Amino acid sequence: MAETVLITGASSGIGLELAKLFAADKSNLVLTARNVEKLEQLADALRREHGIQVRVLVRDLADPTAPAAIFDQLQSEGVEVDVLVNNAGFGAVGLFAELPLDRQMEMVQVNVAAVTHLTKLFLPGMLARGRGGILNVASTAAFQPGPYQAVYFATKAFDLFLTEALADELAGTGIVVSCLAPGATATGFMAAAGAEKALLSRRLMDVKTVAKAGYRGFRAGKLLVIPGLHNRLGVFAVRLLPRGLVRKFVRWVQQPR
Ligand SMILES: NC(=O)c1ccc[n+]([C@@H]2O[C@H](COP(=O)([O-])OP(=O)(O)OC[C@H]3O[C@@H](n4cnc5c(N)ncnc54)[C@H](OP(=O)(O)O)[C@@H]3O)[C@@H](O)[C@H]2O)c1
Repeated sequence: MAETVLITGASSGIGLELAKLFAADKSNLVLTARNVEKLEQLADALRREHGIQVRVLVRDLADPTAPAAIFDQLQSEGVEVDVLVNNAGFGAVGLFAELPLDRQMEMVQVNVAAVTHLTKLFLPGMLARGRGGILNVASTAAFQPGPYQAVYFATKAFDLFLTEALADELAGTGIVVSCLAPGATATGFMAAAGAEKALLSRRLMDVKTVAKAGYRGFRAGKLLVIPGLHNRLGVFAVRLLPRGLVRKFVRWVQQPR
């Protein structure tokens, strides 16, 4: 029987491209995000092109009840999720003291709490079946603190550390655990974060290339996938440089100009 893959944030960007890649390999899909038109459009195209089953669940992951609602609905329909892709997420550029509180708390809910909650809910089924996969989308932001995106960087560090720890705990269970850590990528992310005027928006990777690297890495059982040589070098440099210098550099590339 074909596997079923649940992808959060499937309405655009990296999540949408990951959905296409899973679909091309004949996985059945559950696509979730807030934008119903974009999700339905993608679902129709993937059903037509690949003859797979695609469910659309419209949910706002900033709502703390959303993960349980997604789980309960799939349970009631008898849908077993074999692979969970925690991709939905967003950032916001600005000083911590000045950014609106509700936006920051929503970010923690979507990028951190929903990832934890969904993983907690779907993992027991995977363990019982002795197979499955968790693909979490973190960021190169996960590797250092991020002045001008303090909360976003911290949420992505959480995603990376959670994924690495889970990979260790789940070794030998048949469950593949993988973390995709992209650098700046051409999606709706920069506009949503208000990051277009930052230096980091000037060199964006192609979204299809990023998703393909993440997909291939996941299928190969790689724990950490950082697409792009420049991004891998950046992450390596962070390990060698003094943290004070790294913070100054991150502030410089993120500062609106
Ligand atoms: N682009 C980059 O430079 C970059 C770099 C590193 C990591 N990432 C990570 O990659 C992941 C995907 O982002 P992207 O670059 O593909 O950006 P994107 O094009 O803006 O896509 C973000 C996705 O998340 C969904 N989403 C956002 N808020 C949501 C909410 N409250 N509830 C449910 N879904 C929500 C959006 O769907 P709706 O708006 O329809 O809800 C959309 O499908 C994120 O976790 C991001 O942190 C991006």
